[in-house]
Amino acid sequence: MARHFLTGNELSAPELEALLARAVQLKDDPLSSRALAGKSVALVFQRPSTRTRVSFEVGVHELGGLPVVLRPDELQLSRGESPKDTSLVLSRHVAAMGLRTGSHALVEELAAHASVPVFNMLTAEHHPCQPLADLMTMRERFGPLAGLKLAYVGDGNNVARSLAVLGTMAGVDVAVASPAPYALERDSVPLSPEATGRLTLHEDPREAAAGAHVLYTDVWVSMGDEETAAERRELLAPYRVDEALLEVADPDAIVLHCLPAHPGEEISEELLYGERQRIWDEAENRRHAQKALLELLVGTATLSP
Ligand code: CP
Ligand code: NVA
Repeated sequence: MARHFLTGNELSAPELEALLARAVQLKDDPLSSRALAGKSVALVFQRPSTRTRVSFEVGVHELGGLPVVLRPDELQLSRGESPKDTSLVLSRHVAAMGLRTGSHALVEELAAHASVPVFNMLTAEHHPCQPLADLMTMRERFGPLAGLKLAYVGDGNNVARSLAVLGTMAGVDVAVASPAPYALERDSVPLSPEATGRLTLHEDPREAAAGAHVLYTDVWVSMGDEETAAERRELLAPYRVDEALLEVADPDAIVLHCLPAHPGEEISEELLYGERQRIWDEAENRRHAQKALLELLVGTATLSP
């Protein structure tokens, strides 16, 4: 059975810890692994991407493999070929396949028919590759993750949900603050029983941010949410991550953002480029963390906690 990575909860806590440790090794020595030598990885993008596209394409190359980047207009999927047939055919050629699309059900359908690992490069519901880099960045700054607090302030979207899944799995207390219409619903987060108590949901951003080691935000208008953009900007305005919110966090707190950013909306320009952010390291860490993920999924990894 191929090993998939669709929401992040496919990993065990020790595997996540080992993956983050491996990511640090790969950052120190980026060309040290040939885990994908002679192998190819399909990267299907039905939605735009800067970081995910570049970090996976370069990461596969650094592991000795061939990245096959496919845009929607290049696949027969766009002309009605079924996801099942697409998955069966790609499985005959590549060692793993990633998909970025709106529909989480489509990623699940590809995985259901794939004989190679399928990984989620973002759906409207989940973005599990993102927290791998986020947790790696936190580890670089703070060391062991257990007991840290991360406050996500903003839209209760795909990034918030994936941070809730993988952050709590790593032992981090994740506090999510959103206005009621855009709140993260607890039932929509696939948490393990032991992680459930580490997720708290709030309406007050200051309550969530109190004592946090990490302040995190994401765009107010995600891909696919453009129709409600005006309402979102109005309701989310009190949820901007700025110096005033940072005041209530831990004195050593850092600021993260998955990017792309809209300075002046969800994050102040001062924080986005300031001394307290680790955002640009976080963007780099996408590549290192995803290389460790590919090693694990494609099965050549010797990960141990
Ligand atoms: N953070 C992130 O996934 O960025 P891209 O949309 O540019 O891939
Ligand atoms: N929530 C954003 C994340 C972009 C990386 C979106 O889905 O557009």
